[in-house]
Amino acid sequence: MRLTFLGHACFHLRTKQGGLLFDPYLTGNPLAAAKAEEVTADAILVSHGHSDHLGDAISISKRLDIPIIAPFELALYCEGQGAQTHAMHIGGDYAFPFGWVKLTPAWHGSSVLEDDTIIYTGQPCGFLVRTGEKTVYFAGDTGLFGDMELLGDLYDIDLALLPIGGNFVMGIEDAARAAKMLRAKVVVPMHYNTFELIRQDPAEFAERLQVLRIDCRILEPGEATEI
Ligand code: NI
Ligand code: MN
Repeated sequence: MRLTFLGHACFHLRTKQGGLLFDPYLTGNPLAAAKAEEVTADAILVSHGHSDHLGDAISISKRLDIPIIAPFELALYCEGQGAQTHAMHIGGDYAFPFGWVKLTPAWHGSSVLEDDTIIYTGQPCGFLVRTGEKTVYFAGDTGLFGDMELLGDLYDIDLALLPIGGNFVMGIEDAARAAKMLRAKVVVPMHYNTFELIRQDPAEFAERLQVLRIDCRILEPGEATEI
């Protein structure tokens, strides 16, 4: 499978079974490596309602006529905006034509700001995706939590996408601990350097993972890696 980093927490995952877009924040993203009007996919996975994750999901869903897979409350919101959705919730899994998806917990918030009013959109989540023989874990926005160990016990995680930016999510130290608990074979850091508040040195993260003998791949926006 081929993973392309599109900036911040947005990734495109290309597998033999189809293309998946994660948290497609492209418009207004200073690090965006693609335009919302140009991306293609078979489904969009959205972890929570914050604008740097929901991003362009609704317009892309409408343009490509593809579902947004999200926690129930967020899916309801997207449906209300005219998008096609597939609602799920934490702990639930479903076999889609493009692969198997399970929602995992994430310690964070989930809301949409509409005309200065906050609309809460339920629980945020992470995603486990299995296509072919590879398992991918997209943590979403989250702090470190002990059940990452459980995810590592239950699943053979080939690739983990982990936030390292701090302030709103795990920083480098906690993300390295997460990688260890998940026993991920390959880790790609995300959610850093988009804004001043989440400035981090990914090389420092890679050094920590090297000690743990975990393959850390730092991707520049627009860069891709084969898993
Ligand atoms: Ni967030
Ligand atoms: Mn975020």
